[in-house]
Amino acid sequence: MTRSRPEGAASAALWERDKEIADVERALGELCGDAASSGSLVVFRGEAGIGKTALLEEVRRIAAGRATVWSARGGETVTSVPFNVVRQLLQPALLVLSQEEAREYFGDWYEIAGPALGIAEPGGRQADPQGVRDGLVAAVSRLARLHWPLVLLVDDAQWADEETLHWLAAFAERLDDLPVLVVVAHRDGEATAASTGHLEAVGAAARPRTTLYAL
Ligand SMILES: Nc1ncnc2c1ncn2[C@@H]1O[C@H](COP(=O)(O)OP(=O)(O)OP(=O)(O)O)[C@@H](O)[C@H]1O
Ligand SMILES: [Mg+2]
Repeated sequence: MTRSRPEGAASAALWERDKEIADVERALGELCGDAASSGSLVVFRGEAGIGKTALLEEVRRIAAGRATVWSARGGETVTSVPFNVVRQLLQPALLVLSQEEAREYFGDWYEIAGPALGIAEPGGRQADPQGVRDGLVAAVSRLARLHWPLVLLVDDAQWADEETLHWLAAFAERLDDLPVLVVVAHRDGEATAASTGHLEAVGAAARPRTTLYAL
């Protein structure tokens, strides 16, 4: 279903999204009000054209000037590129880090998570996926604190690579003590079985700090 904007409305106005937008406003207010606040997760799921991207753009608009916003989207043709979406998401932070800064900043996790993020050469030993995931969770947790208040937007998550979704599910479990707002949008029924499992885990992980919207 494709909807059209209300005639003559401000460009950001969306029909029938007051509840979603009010919840995001509240989560953003909590995030920006206290650097030691817990994080939260908002998931928008629904069919093509229902308004997921429009809502993410509204979140971006609401957060502008109040929080740092990093965003990424899954792509149908790059679903199999490991960590593609998490790299996109963190690109603004990673681009400005020199190798020395990254090494200092990521600490013990540099050798493990660095190659996945494209900021370190792969080491001789193949890191186990769980280790890479744990390293990424730790590294992004540091980034979230450093760049507070931080909002992470992931669109078209049904096409995100499985590694990113698995990381996202692990990261969502830490939101209790991480001041970050994560907003994820995805279609239903278009992900692989593994990705569908990770998406369900993302939604379940951060409860009760999760708001799930079936649009
Ligand atoms: N609540 C709304 N009020 C007015 N217009 C809307 C609303 N929601 C969506 N639209 C408009 O409908 C069209 C489709 O919305 P959008 O691209 O956000 O869908 P989507 O769910 O992201 O689809 P896809 O799964 O294909 O990415 C856009 O032109 C968008 O501006
Ligand atoms: Mg969209």
